[in-house]
Amino acid sequence: MEREVQDGLKQAMRIYPQGVTVVTTDSHGPKGLTVSSFTSVSLDPPLVLVSIAKGSAMHDVLRNAEAYAVNFLADDQKSVSDRFAGRTQATERFEGIKFAKGTTGSPVIAGARAALECRAWAAYDGGDHSILVGNVVSAKTMNSKKPLVYYAQQYTTTEQMEYPAPPSDIVW
Ligand SMILES: Cc1cc2nc3c(=O)[nH]c(=O)nc-3n(C[C@H](O)[C@H](O)[C@H](O)COP(=O)(O)O)c2cc1C
Repeated sequence: MEREVQDGLKQAMRIYPQGVTVVTTDSHGPKGLTVSSFTSVSLDPPLVLVSIAKGSAMHDVLRNAEAYAVNFLADDQKSVSDRFAGRTQATERFEGIKFAKGTTGSPVIAGARAALECRAWAAYDGGDHSILVGNVVSAKTMNSKKPLVYYAQQYTTTEQMEYPAPPSDIVW
């Protein structure tokens, strides 16, 4: 019964389109993980959350991090998503990737659509995942590229033209 529900949940989630982010932190060098389970939580205070699999090589690093950045990938960054999705050793994922250190020291990936820098605010148990809630201390929109979207186990993007608003430092 439970197995049936799990399979149904997986199938349903496959047809739920999600943006793709890379959650990064500086822990003995730059580290990151591809994450689609991102959402905003609160405006006052500004909070967001990500859900990280306990089995992931990056789980303990992110759960113990004092700060991390959520990099929203653009549709020309599929290879960046693949690279941070575990096909490369956790210590080597940043090789050849351009990034800048943000105000918290967390890596902000060049070419990302936007980046939210967070300080760890809370962490909750979420079954086989940990739910990390971050307090957003900086939110920057860097360009007007289309977003990278994950849908039906494939990368896609939005049909709409590039977002018409000029890049802005203000996200909220
Ligand atoms: C599009 C996409 C979205 C993903 N979203 C998440 C996520 O929200 N949380 C998570 O823990 N892993 C997510 N993953 C899986 C991780 O990126 C990674 O592949 C997995 O943790 C195994 O690698 P690791 O053990 O080296 O971390 C996602 C992978 C892809 C390709």
